[in-house]
Amino acid sequence: MDKSQFVNWFRSASPYIRIHRGRTFVIQVSDRVLRSDGFTALVHDLALLASLGIRLVLVFGARVAIEAALDEKKLDSRRHNGIRITDPVVMGVVKEVAGRLLLEIQAGLSMGLGNTPMSNSAIRVNTGNYISARPLGVIDGVDFELTGVPRYIDADAMTGKLNDGEIIVLPPLGYSVTGEAYNLSAVALAADTAIALQADKLICLVEQDELSALTDGWQAGQLDQEEARELLARLDEQSGGYQYLKHALEACINGVERVHLLNREEDGAILNELFTRDGSGLMVSSSAYDVTRQAGAGDIGGILDLIEPHEQQGSLVKRSREKLELEVDHFTILIRDGVIIGCVGLYPYPEEGMGEVACLVVHPDYQDTGHGNRLLDEVEKEAREQSLDNVFVLTTQAQHWFLERGFQEASLEDLPMAKQGLYNYQRNSKILIKLLN
Ligand SMILES: CC(C)(COP(=O)(O)OP(=O)(O)OC[C@H]1O[C@@H](n2cnc3c(N)ncnc32)[C@H](O)[C@@H]1OP(=O)(O)O)[C@@H](O)C(=O)NCCC(=O)NCCS
Repeated sequence: MDKSQFVNWFRSASPYIRIHRGRTFVIQVSDRVLRSDGFTALVHDLALLASLGIRLVLVFGARVAIEAALDEKKLDSRRHNGIRITDPVVMGVVKEVAGRLLLEIQAGLSMGLGNTPMSNSAIRVNTGNYISARPLGVIDGVDFELTGVPRYIDADAMTGKLNDGEIIVLPPLGYSVTGEAYNLSAVALAADTAIALQADKLICLVEQDELSALTDGWQAGQLDQEEARELLARLDEQSGGYQYLKHALEACINGVERVHLLNREEDGAILNELFTRDGSGLMVSSSAYDVTRQAGAGDIGGILDLIEPHEQQGSLVKRSREKLELEVDHFTILIRDGVIIGCVGLYPYPEEGMGEVACLVVHPDYQDTGHGNRLLDEVEKEAREQSLDNVFVLTTQAQHWFLERGFQEASLEDLPMAKQGLYNYQRNSKILIKLLN
């Protein structure tokens, strides 16, 4: 990477560093990750996230290792509807395997990270008894015995440890009030933990084939609740990815803003998701992915980042930070995952019944997908609410864009008097007006 690439990369990642600090993420991994070459990289990535002030809970699965241990001991394990029936003998194996994996993870997270980008960062790991469980019970006449479901998650105790900067690691086990251990599904446990903590994100590292089963037919790597519900209804319950989508949706319905299903084989998938604009894998979100709202003082930096390249290139008039501080209330912004990707300003001239549409910008990575239209709709709606009769725009490079959206060419005399005096003849902008009613 050359210096300018580095600078560009660092600038593009920095808003995410700020946004994620202090947030709580629950990360679920299968034991396949723990056995692969990717485990060391995952440990480094978790250390990096923790050092950036992100609060982490790691939930691990043990399915593959349980299968292997059962095979080795020549023990049979029955399933019904794809769910393991855990009798006391199988439970003995589950405990043994989960305990061993927990030790391996603790060792991985505790080992010196010397000779890595994260040397000197000590990770404190916590594995308290936060999960109580109950039996799954009898379904279709089949008793699942010691297969359980999470019943109560001690979110307060976990929050205390997260506040102390510890990473919490949870095996797929829970205990009943009578002290009996239950075998839990790791993805169900991760989703319930994310809900109990009201985590900002649930991130699951899944197999590529499970991810493909969910993304086939959807061009976008994102689903809102409604789309996730529709997809779930179309999927076979036994198909790859079904359980992930089911629990992702459940988490979203219950207050977790975003669930990310990422390919576990992609090196750095979590970092890519968290620190680049578009991330990777499939995202299920509790609300519409992009939202518009009126800008406030805290948005000034983001708006400047967005408009400065266009000011330098000449398509927008230069606005200083001071000017923007005074005028930020006039702006509507479009936000994706906490980052401003579009903006537009409305400057009303109430006496003339006119409003100026200014500084309409969509980040280049997001153009041509209707965001410009959406921002123009918002600003026209606002102008109508302010009882303005028409809006005008001064543009040097987007004349046709506005003409195709109902604007018409006009002359300087058509503008409010105060605006006429400010017209910059050197810029020679085109003047366009649109009647609102
Ligand atoms: C103008 C701008 C806001 C449009 O944003 P957008 O999100 O791409 O807009 P939409 O997706 O709603 O519209 C895309 C359509 O407009 C066309 N378009 C984009 N920029 C255009 C321009 N400068 N002139 C003419 N047409 C343009 C695209 O080709 C596309 O056409 P298609 O639908 O036939 O494929 C964006 O290009 C931008 O930020 N430009 C730089 C800043 C600027 O000049 N702003 C206007 C001055 S206030």
